[in-house]
Amino acid sequence: MLYPLLRPLLFALDPETAHDAAFAGLDAAAACGVARLVAPRVRASPVDVMGLRFPNRVGLAAGLDKNAAHIDGLATFGFGFIECGTVTPRPQPGNPKPRMFRLPEAQALINRLGFNNDGVERFLRNVAGARFASAGGILGLNIGRNFDTPNARAVDDYVTCFRAVYASASYVTVNISSPNTKGLRDLQEDAALGRLLGTLKSEQAKLAQVHGKHTPLVVKISPDLTTADLRRVARSLLAHEVDGVIATNTTIDRAAVAKLPHADEAGGLSGAPLREKATAVIRTLADELRGALPIIGVGGIMSGPDAREKIAAGATLVQIYTGLIYKGPELVAEIADALAPAPAGRP
Ligand SMILES: Cc1cc2nc3c(=O)[nH]c(=O)nc-3n(C[C@H](O)[C@H](O)[C@H](O)COP(=O)(O)O)c2cc1C
Repeated sequence: MLYPLLRPLLFALDPETAHDAAFAGLDAAAACGVARLVAPRVRASPVDVMGLRFPNRVGLAAGLDKNAAHIDGLATFGFGFIECGTVTPRPQPGNPKPRMFRLPEAQALINRLGFNNDGVERFLRNVAGARFASAGGILGLNIGRNFDTPNARAVDDYVTCFRAVYASASYVTVNISSPNTKGLRDLQEDAALGRLLGTLKSEQAKLAQVHGKHTPLVVKISPDLTTADLRRVARSLLAHEVDGVIATNTTIDRAAVAKLPHADEAGGLSGAPLREKATAVIRTLADELRGALPIIGVGGIMSGPDAREKIAAGATLVQIYTGLIYKGPELVAEIADALAPAPAGRP
């Protein structure tokens, strides 16, 4: 209810300043209990996926809360799950500013943040300080490599982060699809992907013994893979018995926004123009995976019907980022409603 009033104020600021101002307000509102009072009611519609019980199918996509510093505030929006990160082993500043741009005519964003984050140690302290996970909330922790770690040693960065976050996470996402870390997407190539997944799966087996719990391993992929590559990636996920897949990250394709202001900025495009492309990826994945592992659908979900489209294409859960910026927290309840089974007696 408040967001339509707040949005023009936030959009008058540059995107990163607006991001920080919104979080400052949210944290203050959460700390004094106001956020929960004004939060929209989200219908419960639990679903069991990867051995976890999700209270509803709508999650927060990675990248909004990179340092896991705002979990309890975000939880007041009623998300069924929250994904934090991408976190890297060491802190890093990301790319020079400006590095985030709004394309309001297209309900889109372009970002080239480049994994700006405070490093995994700080990240874990923040996770430990949040009430959300200890109160049973589903928390995904998304891991990546530092910008200056070459791909030849990328596996070491992922293993470092995986070990660090394993016990605190409901599931761990391996991000190999950001366009803003040079060479990262090459980790989706056959040999590199096989090496990374093989190592992480054997690490997962060891960590399960140590911690007495299985933390699902999920891979997040790019929308810019060819259909043949997508099918190959899907077969690799099956062969390595990965627990789930998130489709998709942002796109480097600008066809859908050609000639709009900022369309030529380097980085990843998200929001409405990504919707169809991400849905097509989900459809291809679903065809190749045949239900063997769940798909978390993300990319351009700006409404309940957009989320339904992802489920119809083969996703079990969905996530939002850009939709939250343009539509506000009410979108969480709208999507949860659209995806909840109809009450008995109604079609
Ligand atoms: C500003 C921004 C930062 C992002 N940072 C990350 C990130 O750190 N890790 C990641 O896996 N995805 C990141 N993403 C991608 C989103 O999680 C999501 O996959 C993508 O934006 C498509 O969803 P949307 O159209 O709902 O935004 C980022 C997206 C945006 C807009």
